[in-house]
Amino acid sequence: MKFSTLFAVAVAALVAAPFAAGAADAPAAFNQCKMCHKTEAGGKSMGPSLFGVVGRKSGSLEGYSYSPAMVASGKTWDAANLSTYLADPKAFVPGNKMAFAGLKDPALVKAVVDYLVTLK
Ligand code: HEC
Repeated sequence: MKFSTLFAVAVAALVAAPFAAGAADAPAAFNQCKMCHKTEAGGKSMGPSLFGVVGRKSGSLEGYSYSPAMVASGKTWDAANLSTYLADPKAFVPGNKMAFAGLKDPALVKAVVDYLVTLK
């Protein structure tokens, strides 16, 4: 089993824990995302709005101009896929245009994904 697969499985187990109820405040790690992403519906920025991203098909937000790689990636943004992507965006969706190196600390990945789940 490849390390990335192991990692994804480990992270999936972590994020499978029940989420705290109620709207969460953005964790500190999310400040990096805010440079490029809005969290309200239809919010325009360098990247697509992250409102409702959990459960969305990758590259599918109407009105945002994605890279061909993201459009073709065919993922669904569930917690496991988001965790894998945020840990290493270039590895999970090669050729995508998100200029972000990735969150190396699994605890930060979990904090950000837990927050993304609340954006609905
Ligand atoms: C430097 C700007 C930048 C930063 C920083 C950044 N992103 Fe992105 N993000 C983008 C761009 C641009 C895209 C579109 C990629 C494409 O089309 O290839 C994207 C795409 C995404 C997607 C896929 C959305 C979809 O609709 O398919 C997710 C999820 C995402 N980013 C989450 C995050 C999170 C969470 C962070 C912080 C940990 C973050 N991004 C940091 C610019 C950024």
